[in-house]
Amino acid sequence: SLEDCRIIELPKIHNPQGNLTFIESDSQIPFAIQRVYYVYDVPGGAERGGHAHKELHQLIVAMSGSFDITLDDGKNKKTFHLARSYYGLYVCPMIWREIDNFSSGSVLMVLASNKYTEEDYYRNYDDFMRARWVK
Ligand code: TYD
Repeated sequence: SLEDCRIIELPKIHNPQGNLTFIESDSQIPFAIQRVYYVYDVPGGAERGGHAHKELHQLIVAMSGSFDITLDDGKNKKTFHLARSYYGLYVCPMIWREIDNFSSGSVLMVLASNKYTEEDYYRNYDDFMRARWVK
């Protein structure tokens, strides 16, 4: 549910020569990583997301720059601003997400619990709402 979605502070190894952050399957995050993807070269004003996943767990990290992610379980919405590479937003299954307000040069990285399959997506909000709330 929406309450399970949260900002996770990742380990950060401070060093005057540069900081380091690491993420391991199942330890800092509540799932095993099967896939990594990233979104970059996002033009000003672009909006991404606009879908929900049936079973996929994700951790979203702003590797560079910043953006806003609005999560929506069909009843409540919460917006998170991601701007630091040692914070990740954990998004559980069955949550609609919209991502916007990308700064120029931003890179959005996603760690995902499964490989890509279009069958795992709800791309229509009404279909998502029906599946989520009408039982
Ligand atoms: P989508 O998940 O809709 O992107 P976003 O949520 O960032 O707007 O994916 C965009 C396109 O890329 C879509 O046609 C599916 C394809 N795609 C893959 O082939 N593999 C992947 O791992 C991902 C995430 C997307």
